[in-house]
This record gives sequence, structure tokens and C-alpha cells, in this order.
Amino acid sequence: MSELSVNHLLGIKYLNENDMNLIFETADHFKEVINRSIKKVPSLRDITIANLFFENSTRTRLSFELAEKRLSADVINFSAASSSVKKGETLIDTVNNILSMKVDMVVMRHPNPGAGVFLSKNVKASIVNAGDGAHEHPTQALLDTYSIREKFGDVAGKNVVIVGDILHSRVALSNIFALKLLGANVKVCGPKTLIPKFIESLGVQVETNLRTALQWCDVANMLRVQNERMAINYFPSTREYTQQFGVNKMLLDSLDKEIVIMHPGPINRGVEITSDVADSKQSIILDQVENGVAIRMAVIYLLASKIK
Ligand code: CP
Repeated sequence: MSELSVNHLLGIKYLNENDMNLIFETADHFKEVINRSIKKVPSLRDITIANLFFENSTRTRLSFELAEKRLSADVINFSAASSSVKKGETLIDTVNNILSMKVDMVVMRHPNPGAGVFLSKNVKASIVNAGDGAHEHPTQALLDTYSIREKFGDVAGKNVVIVGDILHSRVALSNIFALKLLGANVKVCGPKTLIPKFIESLGVQVETNLRTALQWCDVANMLRVQNERMAINYFPSTREYTQQFGVNKMLLDSLDKEIVIMHPGPINRGVEITSDVADSKQSIILDQVENGVAIRMAVIYLLASKIK
């Protein structure tokens, strides 16, 4: 099999295991390319991609743009803050205007869950979801599981705990779908108020004691508390959250085994993890960022090959 089963990347829930493995194998090739002295291939010289960011981003936006340029695609960038969206233009009108400039693919980050699905049904372009509200962030989950595969050789059978604000996290949901698809054992850990009630229906166990969760896992994926999505208080104070759900070096060193620490970024140093954990040899946070470029090259390359 050398083709994705989908024409858009809207969420991990639309992928199958073959899709994931094809993306990983293609990313292996592109990772080798981006570590050469000439980091560019001419594969997508006839493809134009628009990056539409309606929400803030550092890693995802730069990583997509770099991936597109490494594949020799033509790239245009759009940021909602400086666009006519501010004058009341609808999403479909905005995107159709961009598409009339002969754009083939749209990479979009949007605050509304389902924005990518909506777009895929209403415009003629391949759509890549770069994060839609608290719903999915598929390329983040692909680069996270790819990084676990790179570290351990395989994802199947690994114990992964996702720690923190699960309720507001698109990274958590996409990671759960991806990890389960690849045969990992998954737990979530955090304040009960930040764990959605449906989570166990996804085949995930809940552990509210951080030490117990860390003793169990091979990998801890530490999430940021997403204050920007909170209209009410979900825990008494940041200090109390950190005392119960933050990982510091003393806690890490007191475990029976050496676990791997991941974080999708941006990190709130001193809240979910301390600096000495983020910068420790157990952390693969910057490997995740490096792998993000290869994964996004793979996704774009495979979707572009399906454009008629
Ligand atoms: N991990 C992630 O999505 O980071 P950005 O919000 O900076 O893109």
C-alpha cells in the first residue's frame, strides 16, 4: 500500500494503522533528507499551499512552512489578525478567495472544533487540520507517536501517560487515537475536573495520582494548562496544581526506572515541568520538534500525490 486512505488530514480518527505506518515510513525518508547538506527536494514544485492560521502558533506554523519549502512547494501565509476576517468575511469566502489564486492545499489552525471538516465539505482543496479548538491536532499526534517509535523501536505495548489538562486538549485526543491505533497502553492523569467523563470510552484508564502514573509508564507526555480556554477555575491555584501534577527532577529521579518526558509545547516552565526536567537527558522535547518537520513533509507529500 503506497497511498493514504484519505484525501484530507482532518483528524487521527479518520486514519487507519496502514495510513499511520505509511506516514512514518515516508517521514523516515524525509528525516534523512533534512539532515543532508542540501535539505530540499523538488517533489512539489507544481503545488501551492496556503497556511491559514486563525489562532496563535509558533511550532506548527513554522514547521509546516519549512516542510512545504523543503518539498519545493509555493507557499502563502495568512494570519487572521491582519486579514479581512476582521471586517466580517466568512471562512468559506476567505478560503474560496484564496483558492481562486490557484491554491491546491490548505493548512488551517482554527479555534472552532470541526472547522477543517466543514472546510473540506465546502471548498475544492486538500485540507490539513493544524489544530481545531479542543478537538484534534493530528500532525502533533503523528510526530509524538513517531518520536516514541524512534526512541523505543515500536509504539505497540508501550505504556504512555498523558498528564494535565486533558479536557481542553486537542493534543490529548489526537494522541489517544494514535496511540490506541498503534497498540500502546494509555492512561491519563490530572485533576478530575480536567478529565472529560467520556475518556474511558476511548479505552483509556484514569489515574489521579501522578507518582503512580509515572511508576507505570515508559513515556509521560506533559500537557500545558490551557488557561485561554478556561472560563471558570478548575483547580484552586497554579501552585497547588504544580504540587500535585507537576514533574520536577526530584520526583523523576525517585522513580524505579528512567522514563521518557515529552511535551508538545509551548512549555510553562515551573508549572507542568521544571526546567531541569525539560532540559534533562530524559526529555525528547526538541526531538519532537525536529520530527515535526519530517512528519509534515510526509503528510503534505502523500496528500499532494492524491490531488487530481
Ligand atoms: N505544539 C503546538 O501546537 O505548538 P504551537 O501552538 O506553537 O503551534
